Amino acid sequence: MGRAAQTSLDINVFDTPELVARALAGRIAAALRECPSLALGLATGRTPVMTYEELRRLYAASEVSFSRASTFNLDEFVGIGAAHPGSFRRYMHRHLFDGIDLRPGRIHFLDGTAADLEAECERYEREIEAAGGIDLQILGIGANGHIGFNEPGDELIARTHRATLHETTRRDNAELFDGDPAQVPREALSMGMGTILKASTLILVAKGKRKARCIERTVNGPLTTRLPASFLQIHRHVELYLDREAASSF
Ligand code: PGA
Repeated sequence: MGRAAQTSLDINVFDTPELVARALAGRIAAALRECPSLALGLATGRTPVMTYEELRRLYAASEVSFSRASTFNLDEFVGIGAAHPGSFRRYMHRHLFDGIDLRPGRIHFLDGTAADLEAECERYEREIEAAGGIDLQILGIGANGHIGFNEPGDELIARTHRATLHETTRRDNAELFDGDPAQVPREALSMGMGTILKASTLILVAKGKRKARCIERTVNGPLTTRLPASFLQIHRHVELYLDREAASSF
């Protein structure tokens, strides 16, 4: 871990994905106990599933309550309604919302079926502002270094926007669409890098060897739009929760 010591990022490495999930759920529960009205930014994907499961367990054991909290998810597919089995909204209900006491009115999501998608992105920005900003934002990282659906490229967009998904990203999301990448929408709405960087605290969670190279570049590499996660280096408070494999390239 020698080189990682050069960074201002707070890096936490655990032996197994289960231990990552337990520690991260404990971190989120502690934040909720300290500030019950927390505005929590949430991510989807395979990585946080176990963390959400652990949060449901903590709620069932009366160790945490979400009754005064609000949530903002990072992104949603374009053209996919809330009730579609592939929607991130359904994912969140399945893995977290249906097992906790979060008030339905405090769940915030981008609507990928809105008639005016640009207006929908602006509505979301205003909703985040009206909540006083996001206190704690959970982030996954794509194997290509994307954050939310801010994909690597020549430029990054600061505000919430309509994004074109890379083919690798569509393949990575095929599981939600009967395993068929062709069914994964080509576009999504996503918080922008600026939106994400405005959150008070960022927590990036990653597991597995497949993420190791990206994590190493996120921590030690130059800032580049070719690796959106590298911009986390300019944020004051970023915590990484990694399993040993994801941390294996340091
Ligand atoms: P994963 O996705 O957790 O399924 O690897 C992460 C992401 O694409 O942000």
